[in-house]
Amino acid sequence: MDKVEIYYFSGSGNSFAVARDVAIRLNAVLTPIMSMINQESIETDANVIGLVFPIYDFKPPQFMEKFICKIKNIQSKYIFAFCTYGIAPSKSLKHLEKTINSCGGNLSAGFAVGMPQNGLGSGKVTQVQKEMMFNEWKNRIDEVCASIKNKKTEEIDTSILFFNILKPQILKMIPVYLAFTKQILFKGIDSLALTSNENCTGCGTCEKICTQNNIEIINNKPSWLDNCINCFACLNWCPNGAINPGDADLSIKNYHHPDVKISDMIIPKK
Ligand SMILES: Cc1cc2nc3c(=O)[nH]c(=O)nc-3n(C[C@H](O)[C@H](O)[C@H](O)COP(=O)(O)O)c2cc1C
Repeated sequence: MDKVEIYYFSGSGNSFAVARDVAIRLNAVLTPIMSMINQESIETDANVIGLVFPIYDFKPPQFMEKFICKIKNIQSKYIFAFCTYGIAPSKSLKHLEKTINSCGGNLSAGFAVGMPQNGLGSGKVTQVQKEMMFNEWKNRIDEVCASIKNKKTEEIDTSILFFNILKPQILKMIPVYLAFTKQILFKGIDSLALTSNENCTGCGTCEKICTQNNIEIINNKPSWLDNCINCFACLNWCPNGAINPGDADLSIKNYHHPDVKISDMIIPKK
């Protein structure tokens, strides 16, 4: 009987929802990556390992590399991965494969799952589009889980951005990317730092949800330290919509996966 362990990272719940769906079907242990990232090494007797994460800027988040190379006996494990993406999976899973190879392991199967965008332009995604993405995933879960159960080697999902560019949901994002580029060129990247506005009640949700312990509530307002990875968990889970990236209008709306609760996301502080 295979022992399966799934390590996941999630800012707004999309990757958590995918990890949980897969864990239920594979009877796997579900572990947040951030609860283990500072361990010297990761030892597990699981012979099947799953990695689930969102794409950031066409790649897996940077900390994935640090995490993967800590896994002991990685060469003896069957490894599968899911990336969730808002626009296009690009070559993220290929990047992940390279990292796993460099640590001595192999990526046997890599699946890309389209989920609502949680960053730039999230406000442009309609409810109909969101439902389509959720349904597409629901229709695919059993097939991919059966493949993992049989420890099959699958072709790794990739996409070429050029061929996605004419999709309506991508065309809708173009004004957002132009506004983003203009903001950086004319006001500098620091002008996009996260801040709270007058709707902030100092409730502390952002401090609890921050995946990096990077927020402190000082004088009833959040204060960001210098370890932000831009997962947008604070912005997306703020119950008052009180967090913005500076004064730019980048159509970022509070989004989180509808079937994920804030209590699912909070990693107990050590
Ligand atoms: C900083 C940042 C960068 C992102 N970059 C990409 C990207 O390059 N391509 C893409 O398709 N989606 C991108 N996204 C969207 C997320 O990958 C997507 O919404 C994902 O499902 C979020 O998962 P989570 O809820 O588990 O955090 C980005 C999101 C953020 C916050």
